[in-house]
Amino acid sequence: MGKLRRTWLKLVSPLAWSRPGAERRFLASFSETERGSAVDMLAAAELTERRDLRRKYFIHALDETRHARLFARRAGDFGAESVRARAALNDANTLQAHGIVGGRSLFERYGELEFLAFVHRSEALAVEQFGVYHDLELLDEKTDQMLQNILRDEHFHVGYSRTELERYTRSGKGADVQRALRKVFWRRPWEAWMRFSVQIGHVVTSFWMTVLYLVVVAPFKLGAARERPGFRDVPPDPRSRMTAARGQG
Ligand SMILES: [Fe+2]
Ligand SMILES: [Fe+2]
Repeated sequence: MGKLRRTWLKLVSPLAWSRPGAERRFLASFSETERGSAVDMLAAAELTERRDLRRKYFIHALDETRHARLFARRAGDFGAESVRARAALNDANTLQAHGIVGGRSLFERYGELEFLAFVHRSEALAVEQFGVYHDLELLDEKTDQMLQNILRDEHFHVGYSRTELERYTRSGKGADVQRALRKVFWRRPWEAWMRFSVQIGHVVTSFWMTVLYLVVVAPFKLGAARERPGFRDVPPDPRSRMTAARGQG
């Protein structure tokens, strides 16, 4: 992919993997991402009208399911019990974060061509990222071996999606392919920006709620006194309608 991204990955990956608990966190999150991809691919296998691609989408889904399991197991080896224990909850989150949004799968939202462009780019990025981990020898031997195993499938995913895009281009849809690739390219930074905006929103909301609490709510505490515990007699209010009614009797 881009030279810039590769350089960036080479710079930050050693730092990221040297932090305590990095293996557990990264492997668990990879597992979740793979499970999300499996859901996307199953939805695509169900929705596509091309029989030849249905088979490939299905094989792709099985691959991703296997990857999710491998990553989860390895994350478990590093102490991430939650990967399996919270599987149901994770699935719900994964569906929202990676696949089914508002009841619509990626395939439904993008259509076949853009979906293929998305698959191609995502898989190529993953191959690049895992390749950097391997080249820099950031992983222990067992994890690295597992990753090499997974990478073989990922190369297949990159390859078949590229072949399909090239087939679209040869059939005279080159402009559509380029447009789909551009859309997919720009969606990533846009979504990153949106995620960042949500984080900023949380910080700003916390700040203003704290200010509101300190300035508006907290002063009431100064004038407030604690009530005595237990029941108390309440003297009748001579102006109340109930007192007036009792007086009539
Ligand atoms: Fe995968
Ligand atoms: Fe993949």
